[in-house]
Amino acid sequence: MRFARSLKSPGSSDYTRSLIASGQRSAIIARRMSSSAHIHILGISGSLRRGSFNTALLRNAQALLPEGASLEIADLSGIPLFNQDDEQTLPEAVRAFTAKIADADALLFAVPEYNYSLPGVLKNALDWASRPATGQPLSGKPAAIMGAGGRFGTARAQLHFRQIATSLNLQLLQKPELMIPLASQKFDADGTLTDQEARDQLRALVGALVQWARRLRG
Ligand SMILES: Cc1cc2nc3c(=O)[nH]c(=O)nc-3n(C[C@H](O)[C@H](O)[C@H](O)COP(=O)(O)O)c2cc1C
Repeated sequence: MRFARSLKSPGSSDYTRSLIASGQRSAIIARRMSSSAHIHILGISGSLRRGSFNTALLRNAQALLPEGASLEIADLSGIPLFNQDDEQTLPEAVRAFTAKIADADALLFAVPEYNYSLPGVLKNALDWASRPATGQPLSGKPAAIMGAGGRFGTARAQLHFRQIATSLNLQLLQKPELMIPLASQKFDADGTLTDQEARDQLRALVGALVQWARRLRG
């Protein structure tokens, strides 16, 4: 209304200028709204281990989020092995997991490396969430990956994950990457990430994921 009232008479150059200005103002307001929108992230760790470095990485990420973002960590421990016979009556744990994915604005995967790939626990959960092939909740979801462990910081597992993400139509952030090698030397006994360089990289990654989610939201 305020913009409409401020428009000049049709046909005048002032009118054209005020139209452009009002359009620009609307675009700026829309941009401001999307740049401040709350982003809820679902963190998904591929390890069920109590002392998991990857789950710890997600807990550390919770403390390094930018303003206007939250991060909840999913629990994959109750998810049964995928069986296509059960697709029509999904197990409750699968239902709860896929509902959390659907509700999230973005996903953050912490991917351990098992035998040069990602653990079966994570692949199994993704297989459940990938059904039905049309309308599955992962499609189009902004996401980022990271990983801790081993000599190469899960580089090979993350590459496999990227291949799977293509099939799932995840909107995976390309950079920054976060690979934490020799994880046992980078966390303390409570699971706090003590390595300053890794902490800075983690902060940068979650910041970039929040921006990515806001950008894709439009
Ligand atoms: C079955 C198995 C296979 C593994 N394979 C690899 C591997 O290929 N490359 C590697 O760097 N580390 C490998 N590891 C070591 C794990 O990456 C390491 O234990 C890591 O801490 C596991 O993640 P978590 O701490 O989140 O449980 C393997 C561990 C297990 C249990």
